[in-house]
Amino acid sequence: DAAEKGGYDHFMMKEIHEQPKGLYETLMRRLNDDNTIKLDGITMTKADIESFNKVYIVACGTAYHAGLVGKAAIEKMARIPVEVDIASEFRYRDPFVDDKTLFIAISQSGETLDTLAALREAKRKGARILSVVNVVGSSVARESDDVFYTWAGPEIAVASTKAYTTQLMCMYLIALYMGHTKGVIDQDYYNRFIEELKQIPDKLEELLKKEKDVEAIAKKYCRKEQVFFIGRGVDSGVSYEGSLKLKEISYINSFAIAAGELKHGTIALIEEGTLVFALATQDFLFEKMLSNIQEIKARGANVVGIAKEGNREIEKQSSEVIYIPSCMDEVTPLLSVVPLQLFAYYVAKFRGCNIDKPKNLAKSVTVE
Ligand code: G6P
Repeated sequence: DAAEKGGYDHFMMKEIHEQPKGLYETLMRRLNDDNTIKLDGITMTKADIESFNKVYIVACGTAYHAGLVGKAAIEKMARIPVEVDIASEFRYRDPFVDDKTLFIAISQSGETLDTLAALREAKRKGARILSVVNVVGSSVARESDDVFYTWAGPEIAVASTKAYTTQLMCMYLIALYMGHTKGVIDQDYYNRFIEELKQIPDKLEELLKKEKDVEAIAKKYCRKEQVFFIGRGVDSGVSYEGSLKLKEISYINSFAIAAGELKHGTIALIEEGTLVFALATQDFLFEKMLSNIQEIKARGANVVGIAKEGNREIEKQSSEVIYIPSCMDEVTPLLSVVPLQLFAYYVAKFRGCNIDKPKNLAKSVTVE
């Protein structure tokens, strides 16, 4: 068992540290030497891509959160409307799917029953099926027209970490491929983005060196009974994932919300000592986030800010700040989620929880 954990106390920590390698593999296996996307095994043609008028991304749990970031990427790069849906909802709402729909299923295991059923429903209605899957030859992979595999390697811990970040990598590649094929993004943006993705594994290694800082933050706040996560744009998607990680393994009541929506109700719960993680990684939304943080700070909240290196203005409003290496706004989720994974891990550890096998949860849910 200890050998399998590669010297770490838990699979979750091992898997957090395997992310740079998983991201490198996922990217490089889909890149040709000239930086074009390698289409081995992909049957979707340029004509297919041009024919789509809508994309549905459907998944459960963490994979659904990867879909939220995927939506932003595809809409921006391919200029096509994307809906992200929870598989158990999609199935029962007679969705607008036809032969001009691209259906993207995201699943680590490829065996989640709701996701598989949603895929079958979309297929029955004529959609083209593309999946993002970690387990080779799984049911979702077998029943799809095309598969972008995540090369995370086996994920053992129930709380998903490296599957999520490699799913994001696939979503960026799909968005780039679609955007480039449709001629929406120019060559310069495409090249810049690929270079950015290539730098992510090293940047992530650098970020992982801050593990002790995150551990100290977790120690300070591990007895809180309620935690909030806020962000705007892709940061709101990452907030949902950070919140899910925390509740999954530490059983703390946590809640994520788009920062601009706070004032419409949830701010009523913010009081002296409430812990709020504020993700402020988006340059074009930074000022807006600072004013959201100010509002909660004024009510006595303890704010842990997450921002890009150099954006030090956030320090005035925060009790602690975790800086991520600077990068394009679009790709910050690949980095910003990592301190949240580490925070959840250490909080669970300080609270004596069973980190790799939390109560009531299964790695893969193959029942309805
Ligand atoms: C379970 C797991 C989650 C996972 C979800 C979807 O609930 O506990 O970690 O995100 O299933 O799993 P999938 O294998 O489809 O990604």
